[in-house]
Amino acid sequence: MWMRNCWQVAAFTHEVVGGQLLARRICDDALVIYRGGDGKPVALEDRCPHRFAQLSKGALIGDVLRCGYHGLCFDTAGRCVKIPGQDQIPSKARVRAYPVVERYRLVWVWMGEPERADPALVPDVHWLDDPDWVASEGYHRIEANYRLLNDNLLDLSHETYVHTRTIGHEAVAETPIAIEVGEGSVRIDKEMPGCTPPPFYQFLGRLKGNDRIDRWQRTVYQPPGYVVIDVGVEPLDAPPGSNRVEGRVINLMTPETPTSTHYFWAFARNFRLDEPGVTEFLRANVGRTFDEDKDMLESQQRNIGDVAEPVFTIAVRADAGPTQGRRLLASQIAAEARGS
Ligand SMILES: [Fe+2]
Repeated sequence: MWMRNCWQVAAFTHEVVGGQLLARRICDDALVIYRGGDGKPVALEDRCPHRFAQLSKGALIGDVLRCGYHGLCFDTAGRCVKIPGQDQIPSKARVRAYPVVERYRLVWVWMGEPERADPALVPDVHWLDDPDWVASEGYHRIEANYRLLNDNLLDLSHETYVHTRTIGHEAVAETPIAIEVGEGSVRIDKEMPGCTPPPFYQFLGRLKGNDRIDRWQRTVYQPPGYVVIDVGVEPLDAPPGSNRVEGRVINLMTPETPTSTHYFWAFARNFRLDEPGVTEFLRANVGRTFDEDKDMLESQQRNIGDVAEPVFTIAVRADAGPTQGRRLLASQIAAEARGS
């Protein structure tokens, strides 16, 4: 159901605080995440080999994680370094350590074979810490399979019906897409020339509801759960005081369980950079927009139940993006299963 030989987001940098233990389930593995003595993030299996207590309920003593039940201690590589009341440490006294890198203000974890964990493979989301961009970010826990969230982002026609209060308008549902399937990615472009701005872009571009704009959405999907959308509007006839709006909607989906997903998101912009009000507007409005997706996706998952591979009754033209995305994902999961 999921890829393991890839970097996936485990947390925002600010969630992993020195001296604290963060419990997070990823691909149905329980992890405990913290910072070692050198400040670098560490991810270990959150299960003491002794009686299966959660290590995240234990204590950090410098670099050493001490189980909160019987005091067994583990180093950052997952090796048991102390068992109270005895000198012998059995060779099986260890927990799995997952490769971790911190980049773009995110903590990435590699759930697969550690020897394949090449930091050069971290997907590019440089907009999160590029000085020419300012990002408004957030997190939603979605009680739905991560592929439903991929589908949602690869078919933006839903904006017209789900997001009428922010980014939705008729042009999104009515405009066809151009789709390009590459080796490891799917690209989906939607160009909406000569339309009017929905409420979200009226605020950002200082536009009125009847001003004319060109709007675009250019999506790149990489399995398993990376969707970055280049979005924006160009005012036509440039009403006084109006501005071009360009952003990157960064969506990073990490499976929690077969029916739940960690959704890390950000809207990065390259205009009105020194206006904290715009940063806050984006955080609030993108967050509200994704609340609407959460509601829709969770009701969808309730209808699906715990069926791992639901077969939908019909397909429509707008499914092209989700269909190509799922096809590429399935081929990469199959390649991983073959060991290539
Ligand atoms: Fe949406």
